[in-house]
Amino acid sequence: MPEIHDRPPETFKLRIRRYSPETGEAAWWQDHEVEVEPHRSVLEGILRARDEHDGSIGIRCSCRQAICGSCGIRVNGEAALACHTHLDEARRTAGPDGVIEIEPMGNMPVIKDLIVDMDAVHWKKIQQITPWLLPVEPAPEREYIVDRESMVDVTQTMACIQCGACVSDCLAMEVDPLFVGPAAMAKSYRFVGDPRDDKHEARLNHLAQDPHGLYDCTHCFKCVEACPKGVNPMGQIMRLRRIATGDFHIKDDNNGERHEQAFASLVKENGLLWEAELLPRSYGGNSWWGKFAPAAGKELLSSLPVILKSVMRGKVGIGGALKPHKIPAQDLKQVQAIYETVEGRDERYELNLYIAGEDEPPAEAATVSGADSEEAS
Ligand code: SF4
Ligand code: SF4
Ligand code: FES
Repeated sequence: MPEIHDRPPETFKLRIRRYSPETGEAAWWQDHEVEVEPHRSVLEGILRARDEHDGSIGIRCSCRQAICGSCGIRVNGEAALACHTHLDEARRTAGPDGVIEIEPMGNMPVIKDLIVDMDAVHWKKIQQITPWLLPVEPAPEREYIVDRESMVDVTQTMACIQCGACVSDCLAMEVDPLFVGPAAMAKSYRFVGDPRDDKHEARLNHLAQDPHGLYDCTHCFKCVEACPKGVNPMGQIMRLRRIATGDFHIKDDNNGERHEQAFASLVKENGLLWEAELLPRSYGGNSWWGKFAPAAGKELLSSLPVILKSVMRGKVGIGGALKPHKIPAQDLKQVQAIYETVEGRDERYELNLYIAGEDEPPAEAATVSGADSEEAS
């Protein structure tokens, strides 16, 4: 078996999405075959197609080493760095015909072919979160001293290369283009987790009160999968939420915090989510009269078209939806035991898997605040 780098060139079929706005024509697909060693990158394949077949193919790139973040595209429907995706891997995830489909990233307007307008979406959102340190005053005579754990904690977000892959594949942003989005919020954690920054509460309050902010994320994990640098943007958003509610007790006008509490309390009581109870509880709280909270009624009215559509399409039945959802008692006990363990801790602990590489806290980690874990309380 030859070493991976000694394998001879093979033929790769690329199907590239083309678009030239100045022609006024709709986007179209163009097929090319290139002879390249299989360990080479998709970027290499595209550049080869441009050199050998069509010099007008538009692609942005610079470092070719997954550092500059400029070559973001979609390969077989998923966001990726073109220079960080091997051709043989891309062929494995292609359809049965083995053709590698290459498109521009999503959620951003296309300038030409594979080049998207990052200024219009990605950088605009980064600007929204004040992407610089607002230092604690007065400044020390010499440098600010920061403990090691705090710096380790923000290292994961510092690994971001601003490629926009997470923005491209964010499902919430598809529905709400105004959503602040995964990259900007991961960047925000970079400062909220930094003890030298003096505006943690203001930053969190701003994101929590924004109807397109902290609570707009739907936990779909797409940004986690798309990120080539392991930044885990969704994890950072969850950390921002935990700090906003757990440490600063921020109650947001969008009801996001109460909606989360309603989710958690329903699963604790029933072992399952019970959608019919979710809305009144989110708006009116746990008590029986909460069901009559005016805000819950208003929300129910605005949700009626969606509810009716779901009923008409047979996705939900009225009887089934109203009947309490509950799992068997012995299973419920296990679910509740998890709540007891998490809620019984003296202090919230979070793991930074980027650094720790394991999901059990080392003894001393229990005292380190602010690192990352989806499992954290
Ligand atoms: S987890 Fe949240 S931020 Fe990440 S892609 Fe999904 S909706 Fe967007
Ligand atoms: S978080 Fe990851 S995917 Fe998103 S911009 Fe940064 S490096 Fe790219
Ligand atoms: S060319 Fe720089 S990240 Fe791909």
